[in-house]
Amino acid sequence: RTVRIIGAPVDYGANRRGVDMGPSAIRYAGLAETLAAAGIEARDDGDLFVPRAEERDPDAGTLDHENAKFIDEVQRACEHLGDRIEETLAEGEFPLVLGGDHSISIGTMHGASRDADLGVVWFDAHADLNTPSTSPSGNVHGMPLAAALGYDEFADWDWANAPNVREESVAYVGLRSVDEKEREAIRDSEMTAFTMADIDERGITAVVEDALAAATEGTDGLHVSLDLDWLDPSAAPGVGTPVRGGVTYREAHSALEVVAEHAEAHDSLRSMDVVEVNPILDESNETASVATEIVASAFGKRTI
Ligand code: ARG
Ligand code: MN
Ligand code: MN
Ligand code: MN
Repeated sequence: RTVRIIGAPVDYGANRRGVDMGPSAIRYAGLAETLAAAGIEARDDGDLFVPRAEERDPDAGTLDHENAKFIDEVQRACEHLGDRIEETLAEGEFPLVLGGDHSISIGTMHGASRDADLGVVWFDAHADLNTPSTSPSGNVHGMPLAAALGYDEFADWDWANAPNVREESVAYVGLRSVDEKEREAIRDSEMTAFTMADIDERGITAVVEDALAAATEGTDGLHVSLDLDWLDPSAAPGVGTPVRGGVTYREAHSALEVVAEHAEAHDSLRSMDVVEVNPILDESNETASVATEIVASAFGKRTI
């Protein structure tokens, strides 16, 4: 299947400017060339149109809630993105979304789960399970999974919900920064959650295999969401919310190779997004390069 690259230069959901340059940084790191060299067919479909944050008022949300900055803008971008995802799948191609901050996953999961039961593997330091009621920051990039699952005020916001994502089909890999309310929500939920401690104890391969099994049981397809702050900041410094103690460069490769093997064996992979790359915080575009390499691994790139 041809990979269709869709850029989503959105930074409404993050607290630091610059993550809107993620799609450019990843293209500049050679994504299309790297995929082509690995024999993976890819086509760049360009960027979504996203108005600059400076032209907007973060607190002007007409959606009746204060603690979700730029929520109207997030909605508009996610609606467009969701449509692009649906189109891509309908035309038989594979949507690969380049963020942008993690709020864009709301659009990807909405679009990818419209006509399919979708499992989700979330590679991230963070749980991104806050709602406007629980968020300590008001940043929507800390909320996409709660939006998809329709928690709290998201229950009334159809555009934000992923119509066919069930809690038991969501699996986290690599958690190490979870807010108190998120911890409670995870404990009360049927999600599968692997922290860095699980990876230390069992190794990355076994953990990712279990996450894939949980996310694909009884589902039609798999969404992989890859937040670059999942990696240790020494390997991926260009992210807005770095957290010490993440996976190494090698572990990241292994993890996405396990995803590729699963995809080949079960035709499981349906959509993917790569988010939170912020080149302003990165002197040599290292984070985008790492993103490019591990994406190629996910699509089956091998040394030999
Ligand atoms: N939990 C924090 C918050 O809600 C940080 C979220 C960071 N999310 C991310 N996608 N980088 O603000
Ligand atoms: Mn829709
Ligand atoms: Mn994160
Ligand atoms: Mn995230």
